[in-house]
Amino acid sequence: MEKKIAVILGDGIGPEVTQQSIKVLNCIAKQFGHRFIYNYGLMGADAIDKTGSALPEETITTCLDSDAVLFGAIGHPKYDNDPTAKVRPEQGLLQLRKTLQLFANIRPVNTYSSLEHLSPLKSQQLQGVDFIIYRELTGGIYFGKKEVNADYTEASDLCSYTKTEIERIAHLAFQSAQQRKKKLTLVDKANVLETSRLWRKVVQEISKEYTDVTVDYLFVDNAAMQIILNPGQFDVILTENMFGDIISDEASVISGSLGLLPSASIGVSSALFEPIHGSYPKAAGKDIANPVGSILSAAMMLDHFKLYEEANLVRAAVDWTLNSKFVTKDIDPVNYYFTSTIGDLICDYVTEKIPSDVN
Ligand code: IPM
Ligand code: MN
Repeated sequence: MEKKIAVILGDGIGPEVTQQSIKVLNCIAKQFGHRFIYNYGLMGADAIDKTGSALPEETITTCLDSDAVLFGAIGHPKYDNDPTAKVRPEQGLLQLRKTLQLFANIRPVNTYSSLEHLSPLKSQQLQGVDFIIYRELTGGIYFGKKEVNADYTEASDLCSYTKTEIERIAHLAFQSAQQRKKKLTLVDKANVLETSRLWRKVVQEISKEYTDVTVDYLFVDNAAMQIILNPGQFDVILTENMFGDIISDEASVISGSLGLLPSASIGVSSALFEPIHGSYPKAAGKDIANPVGSILSAAMMLDHFKLYEEANLVRAAVDWTLNSKFVTKDIDPVNYYFTSTIGDLICDYVTEKIPSDVN
């Protein structure tokens, strides 16, 4: 199989973790006889420094001309505390999501028994945790009309949703639930927000087409609590853009490290794969960042290409490194391996250089 992959290394640790994914993808290509062609594009603070724009036109063209996009991370501290900055790195990612119509952001959350001690939750709460968040990605308050008055004493962000925007992600979430534990939880704030009431109405209607799926409704404040108290109750969580942003970071700590979580953003005809962590500027260039979130995102990309055996092999390789204590500094601050070494080890496993009795 031949696939064109647009690569956006981005900011901070983005380049070094994404390079490990490319290394692993190349090993997979070699092992299974595929050809992956990489075309690089700029985005974020890196793009602003080099071109003045957070998302240069060429990057959009490169992405539109590819079968998938592999993305690292975005953000630089110099913009975070400057509310009046005219261009911001994050605008690049938001604009790319909108342009490629990446309306569904999929974030799986599971646990690894070898990392239980790192989770802030008790081992008993971690049993059976395996859920997936479907976060709407191109609507809501992120993309509504934004206004500030002339003397900057008042500002507003509009949250709006259409029935169609809700329907398209709801169908994906229901279909996912059908393949899993057949439970869907809609997270909203329907006791307060009109948009949330629309979500409930649309989801109630759609649920009639998926009678094998049990539907639950939770207010977001309660959901935030339940994710910590009893994460094992969830299967598929469906939610709007900003609630999904917040609860997915919350959920990520369950696994033990934010650095482990992958994501896929699926659109009408494009798809983008990125770890859920940020650019972690303090670790940039030190070869200490955890590449697993990016590598598992690459595995989700292989799934998207319907290369299921290849994707499962990458996941098995990641499991093997974690169980063998080949981990980065975020997981073991004393006996840790470098980012690039983890990439090498995962490649060794993929190319069967690891004797099977080590498993
Ligand atoms: C994420 C990030 C982005 C978001 C930022 C960088 C714009 O936090 O992908 O979760 O809020 O969506
Ligand atoms: Mn986020």
